[in-house]
Amino acid sequence: MHNVGLSCFIASHSKDKQVRYMIKDISNLQVKLQTLLAAQQEFYTQGKVANYIPALAEVSPEKMGVCVSTIDGKTVGAGDYQEPFSIQSISKVFGLVMAMNRIGDDLWQRVNMEPSGQPFNSIIQLEWEKGIPRNPVINAGALLVADVLTSHFSSSKLAFLSFMRSLAHDDSIYIDNYVYQSELAHGSRNAALGYLMKSFGNIESEIPEVLNHYFTQCSVAMSCEQLATSLLFLANKGIDPISKEAICTPRDAHRVNAILSTSGMYDQSGEFAFSIGLPAKSGVGGGVIAIVPNYGVICTWSPPLNSFGNSVIGTNLVASLAQELGLSIYH
Ligand code: DON
Repeated sequence: MHNVGLSCFIASHSKDKQVRYMIKDISNLQVKLQTLLAAQQEFYTQGKVANYIPALAEVSPEKMGVCVSTIDGKTVGAGDYQEPFSIQSISKVFGLVMAMNRIGDDLWQRVNMEPSGQPFNSIIQLEWEKGIPRNPVINAGALLVADVLTSHFSSSKLAFLSFMRSLAHDDSIYIDNYVYQSELAHGSRNAALGYLMKSFGNIESEIPEVLNHYFTQCSVAMSCEQLATSLLFLANKGIDPISKEAICTPRDAHRVNAILSTSGMYDQSGEFAFSIGLPAKSGVGGGVIAIVPNYGVICTWSPPLNSFGNSVIGTNLVASLAQELGLSIYH
């Protein structure tokens, strides 16, 4: 890990739009992250650790970490930022990129790109809208994406895991079988979403196979540091800044960021854009990732969730960093 050692980012007035922020002052971002974490210590009681997947309820509510990775190769973190946690719905971002790469624009015949304004696991809209999910990051949409992956890869689970490992440049990333089994045993609502879409002819594979893939990708365990590193390509027009490899096209990186801006925080996405202004995705394991285009990625972890299923402290931390460093994409 390199110590970035920066505490002050001033919005640049440069005509070069690629350089939106100039680092003016070298001091200590790590100290800033530690200070922000310390200020959040007591807020863990304001949320509830997810318990509808029993394995997630066993994680300490006091865990807390934050990490910032930049496209110029620096990483700095504080708290439990190197401890793996269940990435849950953050996996939907990676599944989406894999499906876009695999079937291109055909994907958008089967899933929409509109905010849902509904809880992440809602089924009501899906019936009204004839089995076409509102977007790929609510559960119905992610199951549709899982169907694309299961029908286009001989082993979609292995393909997913190796995609995660290559993006994070870390072969230690693993699937947490205990979480997987817990999800499988409590997956009735996701099964209902899958069967409803299949009844409309929008799912090709058998539902148990789709669920198997979806629960597997949700059960991947990663740290804030690994997640922040693995998403740098979305802050860098689709190019992994470490390997220089194209992970997706610039157009698709733009599209994923747009979906994360409008839907990544579920029915709190409007408020998140209004007050923070970054493409972001949460997971019920307590993780939040936020993309800062042309700069880097913020990842936070704190298990207690608010009523929307978003980490209370994670959201607060992203808000503080975005405000203090002037990171909003709408400035
Ligand atoms: O399908 C589920 O309910 C979980 N595996 C993932 C949900 C999730 O992370 C929603 N995010 N806030």
